[in-house]
Amino acid sequence: MILARVFSILTIVTLNNLVILHGEPTCYDSSKENTNLHLATKTPYRFISNYNDSVVTYPGCHPRRIWSVIRHGTRNPKRKIIDAINIKLTNIRNEIIERRNPKLCPQDIERLRSWESQINVDEEKHLTYEGNDELLQLAERVQNRFPSILPEQFDESSYKFKFTDSQRTWKSFESFASGLFGRNNLSKVLHAPPTKRDPILRFYKLCSKWAVDVDDNPDAAHEPNEWLKSDEMNNLMQEMRQKLDLPSLSKGDIVLMYTACGFETAWYKFNSSPWCSIFTENQLKILEFYFDLKHYWNDGYGFEINKMQACPALKDMVDHLDLNSNHPNSTFYFTHSGALLKILAHLGLYRDDFTLTHKDFGKNREWRVGKIDAFASNLVFVSFECSSEPYVLVMHQEQIVTLPGCPSDTDLCSLATIRKTFEGSLNECDFDDLCENAKSVAP
Ligand SMILES: *[C@@H]1O[C@H](CO)[C@@H](O)[C@H](O)[C@H]1NC(C)=O
Ligand SMILES: *[C@@H]1O[C@H](CO)[C@@H](O)[C@H](O)[C@H]1NC(C)=O
Ligand SMILES: *[C@@H]1O[C@H](CO)[C@@H](O)[C@H](O)[C@H]1NC(C)=O
Repeated sequence: MILARVFSILTIVTLNNLVILHGEPTCYDSSKENTNLHLATKTPYRFISNYNDSVVTYPGCHPRRIWSVIRHGTRNPKRKIIDAINIKLTNIRNEIIERRNPKLCPQDIERLRSWESQINVDEEKHLTYEGNDELLQLAERVQNRFPSILPEQFDESSYKFKFTDSQRTWKSFESFASGLFGRNNLSKVLHAPPTKRDPILRFYKLCSKWAVDVDDNPDAAHEPNEWLKSDEMNNLMQEMRQKLDLPSLSKGDIVLMYTACGFETAWYKFNSSPWCSIFTENQLKILEFYFDLKHYWNDGYGFEINKMQACPALKDMVDHLDLNSNHPNSTFYFTHSGALLKILAHLGLYRDDFTLTHKDFGKNREWRVGKIDAFASNLVFVSFECSSEPYVLVMHQEQIVTLPGCPSDTDLCSLATIRKTFEGSLNECDFDDLCENAKSVAP
């Protein structure tokens, strides 16, 4: 028995060495191209951005208005996760490197050995360096595509900026404005004061029905919870316990490693996280699916109230795109995943023809938060003045998307068509009523 184990260790070590000598792929792969697409909401924007920023033109049409909602860029984790990464994950790392672990490649063990985490809890959720880059570069590309409505000089009558009451959206605005006007001109750029209650940018914080039925309701997380109990998750746990030689590793520990993998990938352009290297691509897909399910049920198509409550944002959009309305030419809102996803669902984008449940891991799906809800995710509406009526171009993640009800063979869709498609949301958007907000606590 003991001999057999020694032999198997020797065999594996030898095999590893052989593999390295022959230059064939080992289990360590610093590029891990495929990892990058399975990081769910911790995906940095650079993996999905569209670097083609040539001017967007349509014959006979001129861009006149732009309205955009943007998720803050790459940030630090919240305090609870910072503590878990700094303390718990460090302990797990110590245990891994103490084991003479035959199932990890020597390089991976070395990388874990030199890994350390000292994230400052006082900077919880703060925008990071990468987040700054994401917003700055996004601004430059958007400006390059629509230079006529995004002049390089700030002017209050041309621009409207607003962000939620948080450091990460404030700094995202500043980075974006730096991209438009230059870092040295930031002090001249005005913005609307952020407010604790914000019915357009953070409507979901004001919706009682969503809080009660979904966000604070443990039953609403049935599907992601079922996935945690699935055979796939159980097998993943067993595989990781064996691979890392940690028999008491929990699913929570594994989700923590995945979270660290995501954040560290986002933070560091030029280094890969050792926490990514311990997973195979399929294992990452299993963990990604948990977050796809979670957001589907919390922010997406899972419950009607998730998307219904986004109607004030939709009204704001149509109102700003209307060329007869009295608004600045360019409006940029800096907000959160919780707003972006609900707006996407309200618009009917990335809707699969089935309800996403824990049984659908094997199915192709549109609803992938790594693609639709990465850091610095952005939804941009541009209204063009054409011969007769205004036409609208919709871009999500800098790619042209077609809204339901709009012609699929052209990029532009008339504002009238959009009004017609979303007539119900625009005309019957009684937020307090649909959120069942008690009149006494309503604003
Ligand atoms: C780049 O974008 C422009 C404007 O949208 C488009 O006309 C052009 O075909 C794109 N080029 C490539 C190579 O995709
Ligand atoms: C902004 O809109 C106003 C009114 O529609 C227009 O006169 C002005 O030229 C626009 N500014 C830019 C930079 O397009
Ligand atoms: C600031 O704006 C002025 C024009 O108002 C421009 O000439 C200058 O280049 C800008 N500064 C930076 C750092 O872009």
